[in-house]
Amino acid sequence: MKTLGSYPKTRLRRLRKSKWLRNLVSESSITTNDLILPIFIRDGKGKIEKIKSMPGVKRYSVDKLVNILKEVKKNKIPMIALFPYTPNNKKDKIGSEALNENNLICQSIRLIKQKFPSIGIMCDVALDPYTNHGHDGVIIKNKIDNDVTVKILVKQALLYAKMGCDIIAPSDMMDGRVGAIRKALDKENFTDVCILSYAVKYASHFYGPFRDAVGSKSKLKKNKKTYQMDFRNSSESFREVGLDLKEGADMIMVKPGLIYLDIIKQLKKVFNVPILAYQVSGEYFMIKNALEKKIMNDDAVIESITAFKRAGAAAVITYFALDIAKKIRQLN
Ligand code: PBG
Repeated sequence: MKTLGSYPKTRLRRLRKSKWLRNLVSESSITTNDLILPIFIRDGKGKIEKIKSMPGVKRYSVDKLVNILKEVKKNKIPMIALFPYTPNNKKDKIGSEALNENNLICQSIRLIKQKFPSIGIMCDVALDPYTNHGHDGVIIKNKIDNDVTVKILVKQALLYAKMGCDIIAPSDMMDGRVGAIRKALDKENFTDVCILSYAVKYASHFYGPFRDAVGSKSKLKKNKKTYQMDFRNSSESFREVGLDLKEGADMIMVKPGLIYLDIIKQLKKVFNVPILAYQVSGEYFMIKNALEKKIMNDDAVIESITAFKRAGAAAVITYFALDIAKKIRQLN
């Protein structure tokens, strides 16, 4: 890169001197189009409950989803991500409830597609909200069995597609699942259903509050290091993304978000596909905690999402989506 001159002829503060000028030369900005809101669903009727580990986030029974969906629509958030809090008595070793066409996710998709057809729906494909051991796959001989799990995930993906899910998001980290899901979707004529692969998902400590929110935390005995990525690695992310794209993924997710910006940036340079970032529950918690204690003000949230855009993310899954959308509306 050329040198850009030297002081006093060059004064970098010149371009920062007023708001309009800063706006004029800004390289990245966020709009509501960049936001995806995760929503937790619970059983029962008329229930909206707080989640202790995630202040400000709630679980809704299916009939009460309307409340939050109205907000989503009003604030022009393009897509939501659905996560179930499955009652304990419906959990088993192989996550059978994942394939029940009346499970919380299926009921929700049907309701949303009927009442809010303009809102995009993405659904996680993984077994952890449904297994009594909290793992994303089936355990055989003390191991998470890859190929047996993939067979179930394919069925789960097909079921969600049948219900009307727009974007299938495998978050399980089994090998070969994207190819198997794409093949099955195409065979059943769901050629327009997208696959957003959680291709780069690290075995992270930052998922703690989420696991509490879906009720898998207390169940999970061991960690997920035999299938999720090792946080000491970055080159492995190219292999993960390369394979998933070959297998038919339309979009790629990097997760967690803020502490993996280096990964987003390097992937974006090499792969010309939409890369999404997940600002996960632990990241949310840390920022939210500081906001509640008034240690930071809420512009910190905009700053954190802008960082993802700067790194090259096309969109961000964030529990702050509604707050940000409201803030953007105020600013405009
Ligand atoms: C399930 C899943 C997890 C998250 C999203 N989907 C947890 C995990 O893999 O243990 C985490 C999201 C968050 O922390 O906000 N496979």
